[in-house]
Amino acid sequence: MSILELNNVSYSYDGRRRVLEDINWSFDEHKLYAVTGRSGAGKTTLLSLVAGLTNPTEGAVLFDGKDLSKLDRYRYRSHDVGVIFQSFNLLPHLTAVENVELGMRASGKRIGHRRDQAMELLDKVGLDESLATRRVLKLSGGEQQRVAIARALSFDPKVVLADEPTGNLDLATQNDIVSMLGDLADEGKCVIVVTHSPEVVECVDQVYRLKAEAVKAKKTRRRQSN
Ligand SMILES: Nc1ncnc2c1ncn2[C@@H]1O[C@H](COP(=O)(O)OP(=O)(O)O)[C@@H](O)[C@H]1O
Ligand SMILES: [Mg+2]
Repeated sequence: MSILELNNVSYSYDGRRRVLEDINWSFDEHKLYAVTGRSGAGKTTLLSLVAGLTNPTEGAVLFDGKDLSKLDRYRYRSHDVGVIFQSFNLLPHLTAVENVELGMRASGKRIGHRRDQAMELLDKVGLDESLATRRVLKLSGGEQQRVAIARALSFDPKVVLADEPTGNLDLATQNDIVSMLGDLADEGKCVIVVTHSPEVVECVDQVYRLKAEAVKAKKTRRRQSN
């Protein structure tokens, strides 16, 4: 059984136009996935369904075979799924290590020696002690991205989701981040990355593509009228 399954998932924000239409995808542990598609195709919407932030309009998202809409979604979000948001969602006036500790505390999972574990996680994503104890607002974009990854891992979730994690990074940092996500999959996690980057797509185990139906329909119409 897959750790995550999307069964006939459709989603609409306004009850009319469907952003997602009848998606049937599954995701396994020990694997790195890419979700691609042009801007507006519904990638972030799909991640928010998988993250348990909202329920599908039709169909179901199953975690470990259970319908997410019937599970305690707060527990799911604080125990089972770590999310790296496009905007990082870090607290800029706290240090890197404080941000990671906050993720641990919010989870409520029993975690001994939070500070030590947080430092260990930051070290794992390539931030030494001097960076780990610096306020986030004084870190570079790439360093903040690493903090966001460490925070997403703070409660040892089975599923890790990342929305455009390499968006504004140079190629070397991008490669670093992707290899880090690949390592997480090797360690047993199910890692799902939303990305535009062809380099990232090259590195994953499996790619799912979202088609922007609405955009396509418009183009066809214009061509016919010419
Ligand atoms: N909160 C919202 N309310 C209404 N429409 C939205 C909302 N968020 C996104 N959309 C629309 O849904 C579509 C998919 O958006 P999104 O999932 O953010 O796409 P992507 O991440 O692939 O760029 C877009 O047409 C966008 O305008
Ligand atoms: Mg998006």
